[in-house]
Amino acid sequence: MGVMRVLILGLIAPAAATNIVSLDELNSALDASGGSKRVAFLTQANYDAVHTVLSSNAEVVICDGNDVAFPYCSSTAAMIGYITDDEGTFLAGLISGLPDATSAPSLNSFSSSVVSLRAMLMAPVYSDETPHGTLSAATSSMDLSLAVDAAIVALQSSGADEKVRQSNMPFEFIAAHTCRIDDPSLYTVPDFGAAQGLLRTTLDDRILKVGALGPYDWGGNDGNYLVSPPVGFYPDWLTEFCKAFNSLKGSDGVRYNSSGNITCERVYQYSSGSVFEDLFDGASFVTEPYYIVDSFYTGTGESCATDQECRQANLESEREYCQNATGGAEGDLTCGHPSSPRFRHFRLSCSTLGVDSTFMTKRGASPSPVPDQDLTVSDAAYTVDGLNAALQAGVNKKVAFLSQANYDAVQTVLDDSVQVIICDGSDATYAECSSTDDMIHHILQGDFAAGLISGLPEAHFDQHLNIFSSTVVSLRSMFMAPSHSTEMVHGTTEPSKSSEDLSLAVDAAVVRLQAEGEDEQAKLNNMPFEFIVIHTCRTTDPSLFIAPNYITATGLLRSALDGKSLKVGALGPYDWGGNDGDYTKDPPVGFYPDWLTAFCEYFNALAGPDGVRYDANGTITCDRVYQPSSSAVFKDLFDGVSYVTEPYYTVDASYTGTGEDCSADSDCRVANLAGGTEVCSTSTCTHPTSPRIRHFRQSCSTVGIDSTFMVAKNFTFTPIDSGDVDEVSGAVLAVACWRLLGALLALLADPCSS
Ligand SMILES: *[C@@H]1O[C@H](CO)[C@@H](O)[C@H](O)[C@H]1NC(C)=O
Ligand SMILES: *[C@@H]1O[C@H](CO)[C@@H](O)[C@H](O)[C@H]1NC(C)=O
Ligand SMILES: *[C@@H]1O[C@H](CO)[C@@H](O)[C@H](O)[C@H]1NC(C)=O
Ligand SMILES: *[C@@H]1O[C@H](CO)[C@@H](O)[C@H](O)[C@H]1NC(C)=O
Ligand SMILES: *[C@@H]1O[C@H](CO)[C@@H](O)[C@H](O)[C@H]1NC(C)=O
Repeated sequence: MGVMRVLILGLIAPAAATNIVSLDELNSALDASGGSKRVAFLTQANYDAVHTVLSSNAEVVICDGNDVAFPYCSSTAAMIGYITDDEGTFLAGLISGLPDATSAPSLNSFSSSVVSLRAMLMAPVYSDETPHGTLSAATSSMDLSLAVDAAIVALQSSGADEKVRQSNMPFEFIAAHTCRIDDPSLYTVPDFGAAQGLLRTTLDDRILKVGALGPYDWGGNDGNYLVSPPVGFYPDWLTEFCKAFNSLKGSDGVRYNSSGNITCERVYQYSSGSVFEDLFDGASFVTEPYYIVDSFYTGTGESCATDQECRQANLESEREYCQNATGGAEGDLTCGHPSSPRFRHFRLSCSTLGVDSTFMTKRGASPSPVPDQDLTVSDAAYTVDGLNAALQAGVNKKVAFLSQANYDAVQTVLDDSVQVIICDGSDATYAECSSTDDMIHHILQGDFAAGLISGLPEAHFDQHLNIFSSTVVSLRSMFMAPSHSTEMVHGTTEPSKSSEDLSLAVDAAVVRLQAEGEDEQAKLNNMPFEFIVIHTCRTTDPSLFIAPNYITATGLLRSALDGKSLKVGALGPYDWGGNDGDYTKDPPVGFYPDWLTAFCEYFNALAGPDGVRYDANGTITCDRVYQPSSSAVFKDLFDGVSYVTEPYYTVDASYTGTGEDCSADSDCRVANLAGGTEVCSTSTCTHPTSPRIRHFRQSCSTVGIDSTFMVAKNFTFTPIDSGDVDEVSGAVLAVACWRLLGALLALLADPCSS
């Protein structure tokens, strides 16, 4: 039956049953009276990462050997022992990745819906915001970053990461992209002959130096770097990356390997601090793909005698601090930086992947039967792998999508044998299929094996459909205008319009909102609505996100404080449908409006180190500046008419120009294009389609939005070989699985995500 990645190993749903197979059920069990409420974690940090999605009735046990009641719980194995014992000592436990193959049969496993985003890090170029960045053109990572992004997108769009996963089972990842992968040609590749900086060095020496931790054996199938060559998911991923890098060619058509193969050579260090030191010093050029985005930078850890020997930094002394382990001045001194978000210190590549953590509960002795049926539920079409196995083996291979773009977004996770039906009225056979309802109708009739939508179907379909995550997540954030730089020539040069201080305040408010679970609250108030927690800023200690002082704030933050109005760039006013947001109402209602209301409260409550609250002189209102298109919203950002966008902006989408009226190119905004400005085409200013991340400053990520597969509950996959005993029955419960879904159907059809 092919390879089965059964993410949700549990098979049955009712909250009353012994089998708990989803986060909602786990929370119901924690909220119900009776039964163990203990939920175990390997570290406090693991609990902190998921605490906002877990019922507050959970009795938290940290299995690090220090728990007074459970001193022997200090490993995953011990944790599983307490979950599966006869007493059911622990109701559930959380691990990163999947349980081992021996324990798996006695456990139900399901996603925490909290995803950790990974990327490759590079040294930044010198700027006011990154004074530790490189100064010389020879050490610039600018061209290299273009090539690295192009190689990552080429790898992802070919599905090579999925193939690497399949050859390292069990291994799971979430496709959470900050760079859209449907058209790799949109990513600029510097010409071989003209490449500069670290890319020049790489091409000339035919060695790409990759900063790596270890060599360690990370366990599981992640990667064992103690053997030569290293084996596992991440080593294989880097091999594929290296192939894609070798195959790059710029507009001159010269392949990067044209004067011989470029090898990716690891430069090992035992700590991340030392890996970062190598990046800053040019001893390595880019890190391994497993670096966690929402983590902190704490300095390079170099030995020193005085601050002056340490690296430049945006700190009081303008250098990292030369201190001992306890912050004093005696003994072994090293260069340290107060914990600060990594993304303010490094250049990030396109995201490589998202890593999920998994809750485990005890599986009932015998699988529960389907209510009203005498069958035992089989692990069939309620995971993408289950669907793929069924498509491979079955007669009906039709899967429906509302648009080609929807298919493109998930095509790498679907089996190649899929027969794609686009329900936009264009299909020859199913011309009448042009809406979600039509699609569901065909699914229930058995015409289509499955369908995909963004968000959730209406609640009344729940009894007929199995719904599960596509595992492809779209990341959202608030956008701001960048400051001027050689890479962002369209950025503002006026200090009064700088978003630098504003971005610190926005991030501080976003992190505080998320740490308090206000986003979860907005979700609960707008059900059905789902999102995935996928943070680019860690929420465990919001105090690490420092807001500027009221008195000294500059730029757009100054304007917001003095004018008592934060101008928010918004699309519409539209009614996005579902519970996303109806902005035609006054005040607007739905998830995103509630999110912004909470954001605004946290923004008002911010205070810098001097303790003066932002609303000290009266409440600051968050005032929407509506525009009918994203292009016009972006124009407002660049002009300082709005300061920051709504939280729903898709990170991995494209920028295509401001769309302003023009009669000649010179009427248009400056741009990193041959003519020096955007192009005046049919009287509007346009920019060749280009990734948004190269045009805007992004806030901390706000939410992740998933798309959803639907399969009819009574659908039976008929195997091609009718003698095949492995017939896959689709008869499972809707509540199973990953309900990590969102509802941005309307946004998909909108310029915002085009
Ligand atoms: C470059 O890589 C391609 C694909 O692996 C290969 O076919 C070609 O021979 C390589 N070129 C050189 C000069 O090594
Ligand atoms: C480069 O690698 C490709 C395959 O990876 C191989 O076919 C080719 O011969 C190699 N070229 C050189 C110059 O080593
Ligand atoms: C750090 O320096 C302080 C004096 O400034 C000293 O009291 C302390 O013991 C030192 N700690 C370590 C770990 O060396
Ligand atoms: C509030 O406004 C008053 C008058 O405009 C000013 O004197 C005072 O300094 C302001 N307070 C703060 C905290 O800026
Ligand atoms: C599934 O049930 C629907 C009614 O809910 C029915 O119309 C359809 O024929 C059934 N499909 C199969 C394959 O049994």
